[in-house]
Amino acid sequence: QRKVTTRRLAEMKQRGEKIAMLTAYDFSMAKLIDEAGMDVILVGDSASNVMAGNITTLPITLDQMIYHAKSVVKGTQRALVVVDLPFGSYQGNSKEALASAIRIMKESHAEAVKMEGGNEIRESIERILCAGIPVMGHLGLTPQSINKFGSYNVRAKEEAEAKKLIEDALMLEEIGCFALVLEKIPAKLAAEVASKLTIPVIGIGAGGGVDGQVLVMHDMLGINKGFSPRFLRRYADLSTIINEAVGNYISDVKTSDFPSEKEQY
Ligand code: KIV
Ligand code: NA
Repeated sequence: QRKVTTRRLAEMKQRGEKIAMLTAYDFSMAKLIDEAGMDVILVGDSASNVMAGNITTLPITLDQMIYHAKSVVKGTQRALVVVDLPFGSYQGNSKEALASAIRIMKESHAEAVKMEGGNEIRESIERILCAGIPVMGHLGLTPQSINKFGSYNVRAKEEAEAKKLIEDALMLEEIGCFALVLEKIPAKLAAEVASKLTIPVIGIGAGGGVDGQVLVMHDMLGINKGFSPRFLRRYADLSTIINEAVGNYISDVKTSDFPSEKEQY
């Protein structure tokens, strides 16, 4: 059970072996996901939505991301653990970006960070890379910029935005990012980027022509039912399972069925 490294991911792309990535935010789920054989576990700032109940990813803090990252690292033996740098911890100030990334690496013992954006954040990415911290890029739909976009619709459908995305992707590879996430863009564009780049391209809502896939754990396990975009495949209906289990517990308590003779000292 060899530890997954950034180098190993590069080899997987060369071999044409697809990369499986999933989010986790806590020890117990990270352990289950790691034991199932996941290649990459992302401590996503989607924790802001699914763990903290915020509408966007913007409110989550660096301290909160580090708390989640520490818990995930403790539960993970094999997968590469990547942590999102949260909104406000890296944009527009490369010195602060480096300080944020160093805190994540030092305090959580994660192995890489992920950052949203292209040319706008180039200086921040370069500075972090210079410190020997692996960076995963993230282009297309970048939820930290939701207030600029105004919607979570498919990105880069127009020629100009597609052209910029390709340029940004090439730049991210050029400066040394080890992988790239493409979120919610046309499959054709994502496949083109994946074929142009030698680093692995991991898609979410970006079709099958990329080098791997990532999903948010709560979405694919059916924990939150309200979210059902086209790209999401549900592998379980945990909300129903949990609702029934908890309902049964409540009624067993109410009827004094629980605890039984055998379940007491
Ligand atoms: O925060 C997150 O979960 C992510 C993935 C959707 C790529 O960034
Ligand atoms: Na994210």
